[in-house]
Amino acid sequence: MTDQDKTRQITIFDTTLRDGEQAPGCSMNLQEKLEVAKRLEKLGVDVMEAGFPISSPGDLESVKAIAGIVKDCTVAGLCRSLEKDIDAGREALARAARPRIHVFLATSPIHMEYKLKMNPDQVVERVISAVKYAKKFCSDVEFSAEDASRSDPDFVCRVFGEAIKAGATTVNIPDTVGYAMPGEFGRLVGYIREHTPGGEGAKFSVHVHNDLGLAVANSLAAIEHGADQIECTINGIGERAGNASLEEIVMALRVRRDYLKADTRIDTTQIYGTSRLVSQVTGVKVQPNKAIVGDNAFAHEAGIHQHGVLVNRATYEIMTPESVGISKNQMVLGKHSGRHAFEDRLSALGLSVDPQTLERIFAEFKDLADKKKVVSDRDIEALVMGAASMVPETWKLDQWAVNTGSALGATGTIRLQYKDGTRRKQVSMGDGPIDSIFKAINQIIGKDPELELYEIGAITGGSASQGETMVKITLDDRHWNGRGVSTDVVESSIKAYIAAINAMEWELGT
Ligand code: KIV
Ligand code: ZN
Repeated sequence: MTDQDKTRQITIFDTTLRDGEQAPGCSMNLQEKLEVAKRLEKLGVDVMEAGFPISSPGDLESVKAIAGIVKDCTVAGLCRSLEKDIDAGREALARAARPRIHVFLATSPIHMEYKLKMNPDQVVERVISAVKYAKKFCSDVEFSAEDASRSDPDFVCRVFGEAIKAGATTVNIPDTVGYAMPGEFGRLVGYIREHTPGGEGAKFSVHVHNDLGLAVANSLAAIEHGADQIECTINGIGERAGNASLEEIVMALRVRRDYLKADTRIDTTQIYGTSRLVSQVTGVKVQPNKAIVGDNAFAHEAGIHQHGVLVNRATYEIMTPESVGISKNQMVLGKHSGRHAFEDRLSALGLSVDPQTLERIFAEFKDLADKKKVVSDRDIEALVMGAASMVPETWKLDQWAVNTGSALGATGTIRLQYKDGTRRKQVSMGDGPIDSIFKAINQIIGKDPELELYEIGAITGGSASQGETMVKITLDDRHWNGRGVSTDVVESSIKAYIAAINAMEWELGT
């Protein structure tokens, strides 16, 4: 048998749209979830958990919409072990090409006593009835023993044995609170696998949180002890300190396939673009030193390293930036670049747009190239992301002006175009230029959302960089994100605010 033959295929279960999205500050609107879902499909995940359908009408609708467009991977919906949850899951997944109902119930003493107020026998009974009920509607049923890492391993084996008998095809071992140590977790997975009655007929999965920074290490330890499926998220987003990061697990498997004897079917060249998209739609930035997708992941600063890399990249690089979709294309795009060069760069960046959008962003690229000498890959990504929005433009920026200074406060004037073509103008005073303009916008739209997050950064380094603004607004406990890019930071802020307002108007149907 060759080395290749011995490589196991690990199932990648992505939960960016469920566990990731439920993390503070990571909410996405419907259009953003659809964009991410399409990108995850292109990345090649085996299963995507699209949401928790019973948790809100919005979640139910978004799982439905995702199930309707995704064809190349399984779409899962999370449900508590309750019939009403499973009914919502079934409704949400009705159009999925490959649906999976994912039910869960806690098995640790602390959760059973204080949260569920159930004894172990009652837990077993509830699991059996929930899995049997789910199985009536869906052949693919996953059962998760919440807080498994703090549960009695023999009790987990008993629960899993019953779940499998009732029809579960995958059983999942979560380290819900990120408590486990790698060696210990690996052994736990091996033990449960070996001692679960009927375990040979099911897939074993793990779902690890990152409270001690060990989510990826624990997931890899689980693979070494026979786990078949890994639950993870893009950029590691998720509850509290997050979930295991998909890109780190996938690249560890790809780079150390010799050692781990396992791999995935992920198209790794899609990793960087997917990471950028998730960061842009959630407004959660990736730390610069983050493995695989951080800005510094492939940057060599020390002279001795630079020399080594120039002579032979393998001296200091265990994988190439291109292998994760980071283009190191050095050809400069500027105002003399033609359409061909622009299209070539788009495809090198893994970005595809329809011909109409291409027209629009090529014109925007020319405008930008007039203002900036060099248009970077990041600028191009920003143009494409901006153009990809499916949210209708209820409000469009027409004109703006700000008068500001040290003593007198700021006065902002803005004119917006409404969807019916009419233009509305407003002047407002405020505490600084952004405050004055945002107040004027609120007066025009007749709503007063709270500004929950306002972040401004530069797309590339240098004073010629475009400003990129992220905002998050809240109204009646609902949240919307917006992003704006411009060579002028006030304008990028206005664009971001209007994008969030448009997402709000769209969802509220106003
Ligand atoms: O962390 C956890 O235990 C979960 C389960 C619902 C799988 O997210
Ligand atoms: Zn979780």
